[in-house]
Amino acid sequence: QLADEHVSAEQLLASPLAPSSDEALPLPQVLYGSGPGARANSVGVDLACLAMRAPLDAAVATTHLSTLSMHSAADADAAMQRLHAGFDAWSARPLAERAALLRKAADLLEARLPAYCGLLVKEAHKTLGDTVAEVREAVDFCRYYADQAEARLMDQPLPGPTGESNLLRLHGRGVFVCISPWNFPLAIFAGQVVAALVAGNTVAAKPAEQTPLVAQHFVALLHEVGVPQDAVALLHGLGETVGAALVAHPLTAGVCFTGSTQVARLINRTLAAKDGPIVPLIAETGGLNAMVVDSTALPEQVVDAVVQSAFRSAGQRCSALRLLCVHEGIADGVIEMLRGAMAELRVGDPAELATDVGPLIDDEAFTAIGAQVRRLRGEAKLLGETPVRSSFPRLLAPIAFEIGRIAELKTEIFGPVLHVVRWGGDVNEVVRQINALGYGLTLGVQTRIDSRAQRIADTARIGNVYVNRNMIGAVVGVQPFGGEGLSGTGPKAGGPHYLYRFCAEQTVTVNT
Ligand code: NAD
Ligand code: ALA
Repeated sequence: QLADEHVSAEQLLASPLAPSSDEALPLPQVLYGSGPGARANSVGVDLACLAMRAPLDAAVATTHLSTLSMHSAADADAAMQRLHAGFDAWSARPLAERAALLRKAADLLEARLPAYCGLLVKEAHKTLGDTVAEVREAVDFCRYYADQAEARLMDQPLPGPTGESNLLRLHGRGVFVCISPWNFPLAIFAGQVVAALVAGNTVAAKPAEQTPLVAQHFVALLHEVGVPQDAVALLHGLGETVGAALVAHPLTAGVCFTGSTQVARLINRTLAAKDGPIVPLIAETGGLNAMVVDSTALPEQVVDAVVQSAFRSAGQRCSALRLLCVHEGIADGVIEMLRGAMAELRVGDPAELATDVGPLIDDEAFTAIGAQVRRLRGEAKLLGETPVRSSFPRLLAPIAFEIGRIAELKTEIFGPVLHVVRWGGDVNEVVRQINALGYGLTLGVQTRIDSRAQRIADTARIGNVYVNRNMIGAVVGVQPFGGEGLSGTGPKAGGPHYLYRFCAEQTVTVNT
C-alpha cells in the first residue's frame, strides 16, 4: 500500500501535522479549567514541533512528544456545563450541515494522512502498515456516518387515519461522553465522536491516557472545519478520575465506551446507581476470540490467517485470535507450518517498513503480559516463538502454546500470545465450548464444507464471523464491527444501526 502511493517511511515520519511547517498548527483549544488543562494549548505547539522535526532515528522510543497536563474533575464539570449549554444550538443545526462538517473533516484527515501516520507511529508505536489502515478507517467513519445520518435520521412520515398526521423524528440526547482505548487512538476515538456529533449530541471526549496527542489533533481538526467549540470538548486524564467524573456527571445523557470488559462493568454500575434520567451505555469491549479449523481446511491458508490474526499489531486488537482450535487430523502439519511462519516474522522498530510486529504500548503492559507468558511457559507446551533480534524497547516475541481444553482460557491476554487446542469428534461441541467462554466478538472458521461454515455461523453467539480468511481489520460499512455477551452491548461500529443508539426518538401526532 505504501509503495503504491510512493510514500516512504521517512516522509511519513517527517510530515507536519499542519498543512505546511510554516503555517501555524491548528491549535487544540482546551477551553475548560484555569489550571493544568489550560496549559495544554502552548504545550501543543511544542509537541507538534517535535513531531515535525524529530529525526527518524530518534523517533518512537526516545522522542519526548509532549507534556500534556491532565484535566481535573472540576475541569470535567466545567466542560459538561458548557457542552450542555451548547446542545440546543448544535442539535438545531440541519442534519445536512452536520453531515457536511464530517465530510470536510474526512477530506482534511485524508490530506494529512502521512502526518497522522507519523504521529501514530510515535505516540502509539504502531507499525507503518497499521497506521495507514487506521487513518483510512477514521476517514471512512466520518464519511460513512455522514451518509448514514442523511439516509436514516431524517424525519419519517408515518401512516394514520384521515384527519391525523404522524411524524417520527430522531434527535440528539444531550451531552454524550465518549471514552476510548489506546489501541486505535485515532479510528475508534474519531468514530465515537463523529457518530455522536452527527446524531445531534454535543460530546465530551476522553481519550486513553497513553495516546492523548492524536486525539488532540483530531479535535483541533474538527474545530478547524467548523464544529463549534461548545459542541466537542477534549478531556485528558486518567480513567478513574476524569473518565469516572464524566460518567457520574448529572448532565451526562449517554456514554459510548470502548475498552476492557472490566471498565465497562464499572461504568454500567455507576450509571445504574445514578439518580435522574436513565442513561444509555454503548459498550464495545474485549474478546476471547477463537478460530475453528476442521480437517478439510487448507493448511497454508490457515497459517496465513493465524499469523495475521494473532500477531499483527502485536496482538493488541480486541479482534485478535487468542485460541486456535485445530482438528487433530491436521494439527501436527498446521503446527509445524505455523512454527516456520512465526520464525520468519520480523519483530522490531515500528518505524521500519519491514517490521511485522512492533512493541507493546507501555511498560505496564510489557510487565503484565511478560508475567502471563512466564506462567504459560510453566503450565503449557511451547509450540513456537519468534526470535527477537532488535533491541527496541518493549518487544514481546510472538509465542504459541498448546493447552488441553478450551475452558482453560479465562482472560484476554492483550498481546501476541496464541493458545492452541486440538479437537476431534463433533465440531458443534467445539462451538458450544467457545460460546461458553462468554465473549462474543470475533470467530474464524476454516473449512471447505460450506454447510458446516454456515452452521457454525448460525450457532455461534459471536458478532463477527470470518470464514476462510483472517479475522481482523473490519472495514467500515462492509464488516460492521462489534460483539455480544462479555464483548459488548452492540450496536456495531461502522454499521447501519449504530447512529440510532445516539438518538432519542419522538413521534408527533397532529389532529389536522
Ligand atoms: P481500558 O478499559 O483500560 O481503558 C479504556 C478507556 O477507559 C481509557 O480511556 C481509560 O482511561 C478509561 N477508563 C479506565 N477506567 C475508567 C473508569 N473507571 N471510568 C471511566 N473511564 C475509565 O482499556 P484499554 O487498555 O485502553 O484498551 C484495551 C481493551 O479495550 C481490551 O480489552 C480490548 O479488547 C478493548 N477494545 C475493544 C474494542 C471493541 O471494539 N470491542 C476495540 C478496541 C479495544
Ligand atoms: N475493528 C478492529 C478490527 O477489526 C478492532 O481489527
